Amino acid sequence: MQLRNVTPDDVDAYVRMRCDPVMMTELGGPLPRERMPDKVRRDARDAAADIAWIKMIIPDPAAPGVVAGSVTIWSHDTDDGPLSEIGWMVLPPFQGRGLAKRAARALLEQARDDGRWGDVHAFPATGNGASNGICRSLGFRFAGEQDVTFADRVLRTNHWLITPHTDLNPTNPTTQD
Ligand SMILES: CC(C)(COP(=O)(O)OP(=O)(O)OC[C@H]1O[C@@H](n2cnc3c(N)ncnc32)[C@H](O)[C@@H]1OP(=O)(O)O)[C@@H](O)C(=O)NCCC(=O)NCCS
Repeated sequence: MQLRNVTPDDVDAYVRMRCDPVMMTELGGPLPRERMPDKVRRDARDAAADIAWIKMIIPDPAAPGVVAGSVTIWSHDTDDGPLSEIGWMVLPPFQGRGLAKRAARALLEQARDDGRWGDVHAFPATGNGASNGICRSLGFRFAGEQDVTFADRVLRTNHWLITPHTDLNPTNPTTQD
């Protein structure tokens, strides 16, 4: 598996991730396709400027054109100051193989080594079994339920946070994660 920065050519992958009703079940429903070119352009600009880490997941480096999903760390302002957040998406044909967990771990290892993000928070919907499983098994701490606005919709979420320097669980070689 490899992670690479999003580029302006990733509109198709964004449409498959964010405009699909099944992919967006736990994220408030599909987003309009017409919003994707601008969203990708802004994300590619922020990734290139190193303002946010917006990575496409490439399952097989020998086939760099095949995108399985994305994993992102970004910072945004809250009433309590800036907050670093991680999010992930993996497309249906690639789900259930541990790819989201491996990609999230890889980006959190980069965050641990870089140091700039501090504690990293995640807000999966309370019913999102796979995402809550990823948080639990990577070493995130549960901090309670919270309403969160995502793409203009309010979601009931579980708030998790991790201090990558101290909390990130080691890879378990027997489970190839
Ligand atoms: C959530 C999502 C990223 C998971 O991707 P994935 O690559 O299939 O996940 P993984 O294979 O890495 O599995 C992650 C963990 O969740 C567990 N899991 C998978 N499905 C589960 C479910 N329905 N209930 C409970 N646990 C589940 C897996 O067993 C694994 O845990 P383990 O390693 O301790 O066994 C993917 O389903 C997705 O993109 N969904 C739509 C978008 C979305 O909801 N994004 C997340 C927003 S917070």
